[in-house]
Amino acid sequence: MAPLPDSRNAVEVPWDSAMAKDRGIFGFDSMDGRSRSFNLIRSRLLDMKAKNGWRLFGVVSATPNVGKSFISANVAAALSRDPRYSTYAVDLDLRRGSLSNIFDLAPQSGIRDFLEGSPGADTPVAYRLENERLLIMPTAAGRIHSAELLAGERAQVLLRSMRVSDDKNLFIVDLPPVFANDDAATVMARLDAYIVVAEEGKTKTREVHDAISHLGQSRLAGVVLNKYRGGVVSEGYGVDDYYAAGYAQADPTAKVD
Ligand SMILES: Nc1ncnc2c1ncn2[C@@H]1O[C@H](COP(=O)(O)OP(=O)(O)OP(=O)(O)O)[C@@H](O)[C@H]1O
Ligand SMILES: [Mg+2]
Repeated sequence: MAPLPDSRNAVEVPWDSAMAKDRGIFGFDSMDGRSRSFNLIRSRLLDMKAKNGWRLFGVVSATPNVGKSFISANVAAALSRDPRYSTYAVDLDLRRGSLSNIFDLAPQSGIRDFLEGSPGADTPVAYRLENERLLIMPTAAGRIHSAELLAGERAQVLLRSMRVSDDKNLFIVDLPPVFANDDAATVMARLDAYIVVAEEGKTKTREVHDAISHLGQSRLAGVVLNKYRGGVVSEGYGVDDYYAAGYAQADPTAKVD
C-alpha cells in the first residue's frame, strides 16, 4: 500500500500571510475577521469527528463554480491550526483541480500522476506551506478519463491509506459537482461525510436537496452557503453555514437566500 505522505516527506514551499491574503486564504489567521466562518465550520466538523468518528470529508456542490475549492482551502487552513490534528487538503477534482493554483504550487507530480502510474509517482506528493502545518495534495487539471482513474486500483489504494492512517489525520477532499459526472459519488463512497456548498442567489434549494438525496442524508456534514458577491469576502459575511433542517422546510423551487 502506498504510504500516505506526511509532514516529514512533504515538499515545503514558500508562503507568508501576504500571499495567503492575496490568494483569498483567510483560514490560517484567526485574527482576521474573514476567518470567522471557517472557524465555525471547523468546530462543527470537529464535533462530528468526536461524535461519529468522521475524519474524511468531501466538499461537493450541485452546480459548478459556487466556491467549493475556495471553501475547501479555507476550511482545511482553519483545521490545520488545531495542533491536535494533522490536516490534509486533497484535490480529487481531477479535471478541474484548483488547489494547486490557490496555494501557488507547481506540482511536478500530483495525485493525477500517481493515479496514472507515471514513472516516479509511486506515492502522491504532498506540499507543506512554509510556517504552516497544512498538507496539500494537489492534482494537475486536464481532460482525462477521471471516472476510470477514480474507480481504478491506485485510487482505491490512496483512499484506503487515508482511511487506515492515524486517527489524528483529517482530510478535506475537494470534489467536482455532484451532477457533473459520477466522480463525486465514486469518491464519496469511500469518505465519511460531505459538505454541500451552495451559492446565494444562484443555487436552487431543490438542487441542494437533489445533491443530498444523491449522496445520502445520513452522511451530510452540513450545507455551506457561500455569499459570493462581486469577489469580496467581508467580515462575518462572506460565507455562512446552514444545516439540512433549514432546507427541509424551504420552498424547493426557491433560490437559496
Ligand atoms: N466568498 C468568496 N469570496 C470571494 N471570492 C470567491 C468566494 N467564493 C468563491 N470565490 C471565487 O470564485 C471563483 C470560483 O470559486 P471556486 O473555484 O472555489 O468554485 P468551485 O465550486 O470549486 O468551482 P468548480 O466547480 O469549477 O470546481 C474563484 O475565483 C474563487 O476565488
Ligand atoms: Mg473547484
